[in-house]
Amino acid sequence: MKSTGSAMIFLLFLIVLPNSRCEEAPPIPNNTSGVRLYLPFKSRELQTYSIISAEMFYDKDHSTTDTSSDGIVDALWCQSSDPEAVGTWYFPNDTEVPAFDGEFGNDSAPRPVFAKSFDGQVALARREGLLGYEGLYKCVIPDEDGVNQTLVAGIYRTRLYKANEGPRLSSAVTYNLISVLPLHASLNFNVTRSPPTYLNCTVNDTISLSFSRTVLDGPSSVTGVSVAVTERYAGRYEFIVSNNRVTDSEANGIVAAIGDSRSLTIGVAEAPTGLAVMLTGSTTVQVSWSHPGTTPHRYEVFQVHNNRTQSVFNTLMDTTANIKGLTQGESYTFFVIAISLNTSSGILLPSEHSTLVSISIPSNKPSTTSTSSTLMRSSMALTPSLISSSSQVVPTRSPSISQFPSSSPQPSVVRPTPGNVDDPDTSSVGLTAGIVLLSVLSFILLVLIVALIGGIVAISMTKPKKKKNQNKA
Ligand SMILES: *[C@@H]1O[C@H](CO)[C@@H](O)[C@H](O)[C@H]1NC(C)=O
Ligand SMILES: *[C@@H]1O[C@H](CO)[C@@H](O)[C@H](O)[C@H]1NC(C)=O
Ligand SMILES: *[C@@H]1O[C@H](CO)[C@@H](O)[C@H](O)[C@H]1NC(C)=O
Ligand SMILES: *[C@@H]1O[C@H](CO)[C@@H](O)[C@H](O)[C@H]1NC(C)=O
Ligand SMILES: *[C@@H]1O[C@H](CO)[C@@H](O)[C@H](O)[C@H]1NC(C)=O
Ligand SMILES: *[C@@H]1O[C@H](CO)[C@@H](O)[C@H](O)[C@H]1NC(C)=O
Ligand SMILES: *[C@@H]1O[C@H](CO)[C@@H](O)[C@H](O)[C@H]1NC(C)=O
Ligand SMILES: *[C@@H]1O[C@H](CO)[C@@H](O)[C@H](O)[C@H]1NC(C)=O
Ligand SMILES: *[C@@H]1O[C@H](CO)[C@@H](O)[C@H](O)[C@H]1NC(C)=O
Ligand SMILES: *[C@@H]1O[C@H](CO)[C@@H](O)[C@H](O)[C@H]1NC(C)=O
Repeated sequence: MKSTGSAMIFLLFLIVLPNSRCEEAPPIPNNTSGVRLYLPFKSRELQTYSIISAEMFYDKDHSTTDTSSDGIVDALWCQSSDPEAVGTWYFPNDTEVPAFDGEFGNDSAPRPVFAKSFDGQVALARREGLLGYEGLYKCVIPDEDGVNQTLVAGIYRTRLYKANEGPRLSSAVTYNLISVLPLHASLNFNVTRSPPTYLNCTVNDTISLSFSRTVLDGPSSVTGVSVAVTERYAGRYEFIVSNNRVTDSEANGIVAAIGDSRSLTIGVAEAPTGLAVMLTGSTTVQVSWSHPGTTPHRYEVFQVHNNRTQSVFNTLMDTTANIKGLTQGESYTFFVIAISLNTSSGILLPSEHSTLVSISIPSNKPSTTSTSSTLMRSSMALTPSLISSSSQVVPTRSPSISQFPSSSPQPSVVRPTPGNVDDPDTSSVGLTAGIVLLSVLSFILLVLIVALIGGIVAISMTKPKKKKNQNKA
């Protein structure tokens, strides 16, 4: 019943629309974009945050005022350039203003204010005094892109500000890394209480960052702000929100509402160093690096091949990456980017890329992997002729290195050999004849003592066992 009723009203609207409705609702400018507040009583567009007095809007065409009777209802209109947009009005406490489907001037319409929807616009109409209903009224209406926009009008019985409360920044600023190469991160925060007129995002007070904002929820007017970070700027990031209040349509005065700001220091992770690449198989390589960063990092390894750069490996804390499936006879270049894992100690943007290392994958199969890995260790400097030279050459050139595991020829692995020379055991080599004699005697004595002790030990070894058994029993 109800749905058929509203369907009939809708049909009625469609039929009567060209004549009667154009008289009630103001025209929507068809050559503009976006959304706006329109006040027919003053025949003017209102800037958002304009302050108007309750005597500037009604639920009828107020013909006794300075504008002549034009048939347009002197409500406060919230308009969108999307002719099908549906808008909603909210009270200062963020509850929805009751909507009314009946005609303007119908006595059963809600009091003191009600909302009435038309295609592309919604009217805020007043029937009674606004005592107890003053404050910032918000209209949420989608623009031609379907994005909700919020327009604010301060409505008071006098033209003075009652509560000059500006927007507030939420305490949390979240960091979201979207892409490492090209760098795309975002810093997100919410602005509450009312949409900001101005939103400034700067680094070191000099560089301005671009941002986007979205009305997250109309009723409480939370504006979600996303600041795009596409450059590795280290420094002090500051977000400032503020509002301008337009005192009223006549005074042209602008009063700054109390603003809010938040700043945080953002760093850039240190780039990995000492990059090396070595062949570990006929079509596999190992890329290794070191990293001076103190906070935990993950690493992303990129490969450049045939002018194409792509991410080929992700490691968590490890500083090696095994890259498989390379093509024999082709050349590859690698670099690594460090990405900070721990944001509790502050936000670190991904590092610059490391130095590049290149390697050519030999076309012929190497005889053993260990020798070829030795050959490729300092592959950056390798010329094609050196790579193509047979692997048998290598052991004769550096036999000592080929003994070491292919992972890394660390200095600590080499040290034990020279270290043995200084060993205390071999230091008392220079013996005199007397000492030799003494030593022989001592040796005999030692043998005797050892034999004796051996006997004692053999006895004592059996004794405790008995004791133990006794204790157990
Ligand atoms: C805007 O509307 C006017 C009449 O209301 C019409 O003459 C004009 O062509 C329209 N312009 C566009 C861009 O639709
Ligand atoms: C829209 O049209 C009106 C009158 O038709 C004109 O005064 C106004 O400048 C136009 N606006 C834009 C943005 O073109
Ligand atoms: C006023 O609105 C009510 C509810 O929408 C409706 O039932 C009634 O017929 C309307 N009265 C007039 C005079 O339009
Ligand atoms: C919000 O304000 C309206 C109008 O003043 C009132 O009717 C409603 O009860 C209020 N809601 C809350 C949750 O305070
Ligand atoms: C912003 O508010 C929305 C909901 O109102 C919430 O889901 C989101 O997590 C908030 N974002 C931040 C950065 O606080
Ligand atoms: C914020 O930006 C606006 C213009 O976008 C500028 O007029 C205003 O001075 C800026 N405010 C601050 C605090 O930098
Ligand atoms: C726009 O806001 C209204 C509430 O005012 C909500 O119902 C609607 O889902 C929002 N639309 C979008 C696209 O966010
Ligand atoms: C910002 O200032 C800090 C400290 O002076 C400096 O280290 C940093 O490089 C600056 N950032 C930019 C992007 O200028
Ligand atoms: C790589 O790009 C450079 C310049 O962009 C071009 O001169 C070169 O021919 C390209 N090489 C390949 C293998 O596509
Ligand atoms: C981040 O680092 C801090 C201090 O170094 C440590 O207390 C915290 O547990 C770390 N958090 C994570 C998630 O690793």
